[in-house]
Amino acid sequence: MSYENLRVSVADGIGTLTIHRPDKLNALNSATIDELDRAIVALVSAREVSGIIVTGAGRAFVAGADIAELAALDAGGARELSKRGQEVFSRFESSHKPVIAAVNGFALGGGCELAMACHIRLASDLAKFGQPEVKLGLIPGYGGTQRLPRLVGPGHAAQLLLTGEIIDAAEAARIGLVNRVVPAAELMPATESLMRQIMSTAPLAQARILDAIRRAADAPSSSLFDLESSGFTKLAGTEDAREGTAAFLEKRTPRFSGR
Ligand code: COA
Repeated sequence: MSYENLRVSVADGIGTLTIHRPDKLNALNSATIDELDRAIVALVSAREVSGIIVTGAGRAFVAGADIAELAALDAGGARELSKRGQEVFSRFESSHKPVIAAVNGFALGGGCELAMACHIRLASDLAKFGQPEVKLGLIPGYGGTQRLPRLVGPGHAAQLLLTGEIIDAAEAARIGLVNRVVPAAELMPATESLMRQIMSTAPLAQARILDAIRRAADAPSSSLFDLESSGFTKLAGTEDAREGTAAFLEKRTPRFSGR
């Protein structure tokens, strides 16, 4: 599959999706959103891919939606753009395979929203985060008003959204927007190492965990305890659960088959 503004590679079970429009700091125009859609669908369904890393080329992760496109929008176009971005970013969040954002630089506006749609975020010490839409007379349109308060709590979210301020990686880690900050040169090795750690665990269980976490946003927690019980019950009957428990008792490394 060929892409103009993305680079997609697969090695050792890890699919890496790099947003590659460096002269525009990887700003998301609608062509790039369409390519992200195709790429995430392809990686999630590829048998040889067990986990997905999302990163950016050059000094940005993604510097936001393409402001040149935003400037030309009428009301109908704005609704369409927002709904389309929400739909595509939701595919990252609803992936049954783990998706980690390796945030290498600016993650602003739609870039911060894309990182938040991934399951886990690691950041380079050079990364910068923010939702500056309010300074353009706008609000986030790709899920940011909902995912940011869930990640950092309503107080930090209100401050970031209302001021449009840009924060560094250390502050992003302090408020829970990213899991960990590493020196720039170590970002990809650290992200791949975390992905390999996840890939050593049972894939059916991973899928259930990701599903339960995602649904937590949409439903009251009482019904989600039922979801957790039913997932636990189904997994207890799998080959992987038998293998995982047997391997522990036999003091050996488990070999998970995904069945
Ligand atoms: N949309 C479209 N183009 C963008 C962009 C965006 N979100 N962000 C950066 N670019 C383009 C710039 O217009 C510039 O293009 P040019 O070389 O053709 O003029 C190029 O990327 C480099 O950006 P520049 O502003 O020159 O880099 P900088 O280092 O001075 O500043 C930023 C970096 C990230 C602080 C600045 O680009 C910025 O504020 N971007 C917009 C962030 C934003 O508001 N995002 C939310 C959008 S809803």
